[in-house]
Amino acid sequence: MARLQGKVALITGGAGGCGLAASELFAREGAKVAILDLPNSQGEAVAARINAAGGEACFVSADVSSSEQVERAIRHAEERFGAINVLMNHAGNIAAGPFLETTESEWDRLMGINVKGMFLVTKAVLPNMIASGGGSIICTSSISAVVGTPMEVLYCTTKGACHMFARAIAVEYRDRNIRSNAVCPGFIGTAHGQRELQLLRGLGVEVSDENIASMQGRLCDPEEVAKAALFLASDDASFVNGAHLFVDNGYTAL
Ligand SMILES: NC(=O)c1ccc[n+]([C@@H]2O[C@H](COP(=O)([O-])OP(=O)(O)OC[C@H]3O[C@@H](n4cnc5c(N)ncnc54)[C@H](O)[C@@H]3O)[C@@H](O)[C@H]2O)c1
Repeated sequence: MARLQGKVALITGGAGGCGLAASELFAREGAKVAILDLPNSQGEAVAARINAAGGEACFVSADVSSSEQVERAIRHAEERFGAINVLMNHAGNIAAGPFLETTESEWDRLMGINVKGMFLVTKAVLPNMIASGGGSIICTSSISAVVGTPMEVLYCTTKGACHMFARAIAVEYRDRNIRSNAVCPGFIGTAHGQRELQLLRGLGVEVSDENIASMQGRLCDPEEVAKAALFLASDDASFVNGAHLFVDNGYTAL
């Protein structure tokens, strides 16, 4: 226990799905947790629950695709808890449809959340992370970074970018004691995962329960992603940098 004692963690998308699981787990492991999520999310309630259970958390609202909102939220988090030494770039969204019907505004919107969001948040957090001695960045990628799914050209492209973002940050900043890794889940039983399966099935893509079972056994639990992220966040992973940790029960090993 207490593998994150003395750390300050910021988790984007920390009010729902795997982000929520990570907020709760990181707090139980001793971190002060800043939950960055949309204004209409459950962020405030999640922070209150963590505080009532003896942990330390706060909610900072922002849309990760807005530089102004991100900068304000990171400032608030740092004022409350000090420099952030664990950043989990988890917030993301899904889109599916035939490539030729994908509009420019859909492209810009999803790239804005999944990719630009990671860029904006990391840029806002990194200076004080470095000044305070270093830290660990975990970027949520996906099996979709390396496996194409029909009807998901846009989504897969965003996750490919997240995959490489984690690695490129690692090589540029390792001399300043920054580790940056990606966690890459298979299909998870979260709102995002269920919506993705529903969208794909509606479009005729073969992602039946049997198909998921043959590729990864079952749906991944959000806590399983949070535990992999905890390893990367903690000093247990002190020499793990620029890695892609697949949490997919062999989906990509087949
Ligand atoms: N669910 C899956 O099957 C799956 C698989 C692989 C990777 N992922 C990745 O996990 C991440 C989210 O997945 P989840 O399953 O935990 O989802 P989820 O939908 O349950 O939770 C996502 C959280 O992100 C927040 N969020 C969404 N857009 C935001 C924005 N613009 N600004 C701030 N917060 C925002 C939501 O409010 C929510 O709390 C994404 O990066 C996704 O690509 C999911």
